[in-house]
Amino acid sequence: MYSRIAGTGRCLPDRILTNAELEQMVETSDEWIRSRTGIERRHIAAEGETTSDLALRAALQAIEAAGITPADLDLIVTGTTTPDQVFPNIACLLQDRLGVHGTPAIALEAACSGFMYGLSVADKFMRAGEARYALVIGAETLSRITDWTSRDTCVLFGDGAGAVVLEASETPGILATHLGADGHYKDLLYVPTGPSRRAVTPSRDDGFIHMRGNEVFKVAVRTLGGVAEEVLAKAGVDKTEVDWLVPHQANIRIIQATAKRLDIPMERVVLTVQDHGNTSAASVPMALDVAVRDGRIQRGQLLLLEAFGGGLTWGSALVRY
Ligand code: UT7
Repeated sequence: MYSRIAGTGRCLPDRILTNAELEQMVETSDEWIRSRTGIERRHIAAEGETTSDLALRAALQAIEAAGITPADLDLIVTGTTTPDQVFPNIACLLQDRLGVHGTPAIALEAACSGFMYGLSVADKFMRAGEARYALVIGAETLSRITDWTSRDTCVLFGDGAGAVVLEASETPGILATHLGADGHYKDLLYVPTGPSRRAVTPSRDDGFIHMRGNEVFKVAVRTLGGVAEEVLAKAGVDKTEVDWLVPHQANIRIIQATAKRLDIPMERVVLTVQDHGNTSAASVPMALDVAVRDGRIQRGQLLLLEAFGGGLTWGSALVRY
C-alpha cells in the first residue's frame, strides 16, 4: 500500500504587511528586502487569530478538494512551531474543530521542516495499512515570535497554513521521503525559552526568533541540494525527470542555488516567497496548493518537495502527483 495526494488547501490571513510599511518600522528598504530575499509582502494574523484558525481553513479546503468529509479522516499530523497552546496539541484542537473523534492526532515540531516531517510520518502510517485518509498540515503564526524591532528577522517571516489530504493507494504517489537533522547547529536558529527553561532574568528577547542568518544561509545552500539528491536516489529517479521543484520558501537566493545544483530551470520551480515571506512549516504545502490550483501542477507529474529549518532539520519528498 502507498499514499497519494488527494487534495490540497491553504490559508493566508487577510492583513498584508508590505516592505514599504516595514521601512517605517525598522531601518530597512524595499530594495534590500527584495534583492536579498525576494520577499515583497507577508500576511499577519489578526489579533486573536491563532495557528489552528489558519490550519482549520486550509484543512477544510484540502478535505473538499479530496472529495471526502472530515469523518473520513483516520489520521491527523501537524507541523508547527507556533501552536495555540502548550497542550492539548494543535492536532487535537484541529480534530475537535473538524468534528472528528478518535483518530491519532500527532503534532510534530521540526520548525520549517515540520510539514516534510509530517508528510513522511503520515506516509509511513499509510504504507503500514494503518490509515486510509490522512490530513497533513503545516501552519504557523510566526508573527507572534518575531521581534518587530529587529530588522535582521522581522522582514523575513509571515503567517499562513497549508494542508494536504493523503489517500491510501495501490499505486505510489509518494515515491520516497528523506528526513534529517543536525542538532549541532542548534544555536544558528532558535527561540531561547520554553516551558521548562525560563531565563533567571527574563529579557524581552526570550520569546523571539534569533537567527545567524548568513550562517544558516550557507548551511541551507550546502544541505538542500544533497537532501534532494538523497530522495531521488532512494526512489531510483533521475533529476531530469522532475517536473516541479516545490521548495521551502525562505529566500529566493537559496531556492535559485538549489535549483541550479539540480539543473532545474526556474520556470519549473514553484515560487511564492514574494507573496508571503518565510512561513516556516506552512510554506511547502502552500506553494504546492498554489501551483495545483493555478493548473501548473498536473496529475501524473513528478514533484520534488524540500524544506530546511531550525534544529537544524531538513526533509524532502518525491511525489507522483
Ligand atoms: O527558514 C529556514 C531558515 N532560514 C533561512 O533560510 C534564512 C537564511 N538566511 C537568509 O536568508 C539571509 O542570510 C538573510 C536574508 C537573513 C540575510 O541576507 P545576507 O545576504 O546573508 O545578509 P547579511 O546577514 O550578511 O547582512 C548584510 C548586511 C549587513 O550590513 P553590513 O554588516 O554589511 O554593514 C546587515 O546589517 O545587511 C544588513 N542588514 C539589513 N539591511 C537592511 C541585515 N538585515 C537588513 C535589513 N535591511 N532588513
